[in-house]
Amino acid sequence: MRTTAPDVSASGPLSYDVVIVGGGAAGLRAAIAVAETAPALSVAIVSKVYPMRSHTVSAEGGAAAVIKDVDSLDEHFRDTVSGGDWLCDQDAVEFFVEEAPKELLRLEHWGCPWSREPDGHVAVRPFGGMKQQRTWFAADKTGFHLLHALFQTSLKHQQIVRHDEWFATKLLVDDGRVGGVAGIELATGRIETIAAKAVILCTGGCGRVYPFTTNANIKTGDGMALAYRAGGPLKDMEFVQYHPTGLPFTGILITEAARAEGGWLLNRDGYRYLQDYDLGKPEPHPVFKSMELGPRDRLSQAFVKEMEKGRTIPTSYGPIVHLDLRHLGEQTIDTKLPFVRELCRDYERIDPVRELIPVRPVVHYMMGGVHTDIDGAAGVAGLYAAGETACVSINGANRLGSNSLPECLVFGARAGEAAASHAASAPGPAASLAAQAADERRRLEELLRRDGGRERVSTLRQEMQAAMEAGAGIYRSRDDLVKSVDRVHELQDRFRSVRLTDHSLTFNTELIAALELEFMLEVAGSILHSALMREESRGAHQRVDFPRRDDEQFLAHSLICRNDDGSWRIEYPPVTITRWPPGERVYGR
Ligand code: FUM
Repeated sequence: MRTTAPDVSASGPLSYDVVIVGGGAAGLRAAIAVAETAPALSVAIVSKVYPMRSHTVSAEGGAAAVIKDVDSLDEHFRDTVSGGDWLCDQDAVEFFVEEAPKELLRLEHWGCPWSREPDGHVAVRPFGGMKQQRTWFAADKTGFHLLHALFQTSLKHQQIVRHDEWFATKLLVDDGRVGGVAGIELATGRIETIAAKAVILCTGGCGRVYPFTTNANIKTGDGMALAYRAGGPLKDMEFVQYHPTGLPFTGILITEAARAEGGWLLNRDGYRYLQDYDLGKPEPHPVFKSMELGPRDRLSQAFVKEMEKGRTIPTSYGPIVHLDLRHLGEQTIDTKLPFVRELCRDYERIDPVRELIPVRPVVHYMMGGVHTDIDGAAGVAGLYAAGETACVSINGANRLGSNSLPECLVFGARAGEAAASHAASAPGPAASLAAQAADERRRLEELLRRDGGRERVSTLRQEMQAAMEAGAGIYRSRDDLVKSVDRVHELQDRFRSVRLTDHSLTFNTELIAALELEFMLEVAGSILHSALMREESRGAHQRVDFPRRDDEQFLAHSLICRNDDGSWRIEYPPVTITRWPPGERVYGR
C-alpha cells in the first residue's frame, strides 16, 4: 500500500511543497493537477478518511456539463446565475461552464463509466433548475465511479504521498504566509506537523452542524474552520441548501435524478402540490414537466408551506411528503435508479416499484465556504481551497443540482495548478512554525488528558444542531437567529469544560469528535451571524421579516472574518457581474 507516511521519529518533520487536506473529488483532482503540471514538486494528501470513503462517494445523480448540440455554454451560464439568484460571480461561472465539459471528458479517459445512450453517446438527464438536459451520470452512483476514477489516476503519480486517517487540527501561519498543518495520526495518536509551502483545503462542507443532513458524519466544516481561525474569511455562509428529498431520520439522499426520471412529489392527499407554488417565473411553461424539477430552495420552501397548511404526513421523525416512482416501472428504476431502490429497501424497508417513498427536506450543501478567488487563493499567502469547502463563487444563493461534482473538478484542478506555481517559488517554512506546532501539541495533549470537565461532546453537538435548525433553517427571522447566536456562544463557553472519557491514543474517536465539534461551533457561529446580518430574502436564505430580495443593499457577498479574540466582523464586497444584470429567476424545460 502506498500510504507512505515516513517514520517521523526516524526522518524528522514531514515536509512537502504542497499539502492537500481532504481526499475527495476536489482534493484528488488538485493533487493530480500538481503532479501533472509540476512533476518535480512533492505533494501530500492528508485525509481523515481513506479517500474512497470521502463524501464524494455518496454523490448520486450526476455532473452537469454542456454536451448536446441543443445546449450551449451560455444556457448553462444563465441557468447557474439565475438559479443562484444573481449572487454568483459571473467570471467564475463563465470559466466553470467552459471547463466542465473538458473535465468530464477527461474523467471518461481516466475510466469513469458514464452511462450511454443506445447509440453510444454519453447520456444526459435533466436536473432541477436547468432548461436543458446536461447532467452526465453513471446510473445513480456517479460519485462512486467518479471518485474511483480519480483515485486510480492519483495512484499513477509516484510523487503523490498519502497520509490517510490523519486529522488536521491547525494551519500553521507565519507573518501572513502558510507554512503547513498540525494534526493527529489517528492510528497512533501521534501529534505531528507537516510543513508545506502551499496548503489546499478540500474537506467538503459542514452539513453535520444540522440535525438532518444528507452529509456523511465526516462533514464537520474542518477546512472552513481551519481557514477562519488562520485569518481567511468565510463567504456567503448564510446560504445553506436543503435538498427536498432526504429519507426521514437518516437524512439519506434520494437523488433528484428520481424526479428527473419522472418521479412526483405528493402531499397527504396524494396531490402533486408543487403545482400550487411559484417555482420561479415560467418560461413557455409546461408546468407539469418542470415542477418537480424546480430549484431546490423553492421546493424546500413549498414543503414548509404544505406543512403549515396541514397537508404533510406526521411521522415519528417529523412531517414528510411522498415521492412516487411507481409509474416509472421496475425496468426504469432498476436501470436508472438502482441505488434508490437499494436505499429504500435497506433503510425504509419499502420497495419504490410498488410503494411510496417518505421524504423531507434535509440539509445538503453549503453554498458558502472559504472565500477564494478564481484560482482558489484564500486570502492568506499559500492558502487555497476548492470544492464545497470553498466559495469561489459559482453557486450564489442556491446551487443547482449536479453543478457540484464538476465544480470540484474544475476548481480542484485550478487550485492545484495555482498552488504548484506558488510553491515553486515560495521560501521554506519560517522558524517560528516550530513554536506554533509546540503550542498546538500542548493544546491537544491537554484536551486528551482532560477528565475534570462536566460537558459531554454528544450533548453539546445535539444542542448545536437543534439551535441551527431552529435559527437558520429553511425560513429564518431576527428573533430566532438572535436566540441561536446566543445559544451557540453559550455552547462555545461550555465546550471549555468538555470531558473526555477515553484517554487512549489509538483511534480515539472521542477526541476527534471533540475537535470536530469545536470546528463546527465556529462554523455554526459564522452561519448564524451572516444570516442575521443579511436583511433580505434570496435563494436559500429566506427571512420572514425581510421577504424580498434587496439588490440595492445586498447584491453583495458577505465576508465574515474572525478577530483574534474570537469575535467577528462582516464586510460586503460586490458580486462580479460580467454580462447578465439581476433579473427574475426563470425555470422550465
Ligand atoms: O440529488 C442529487 O443527486 C444531488 C446532486 C447534487 O447535489 O449535485
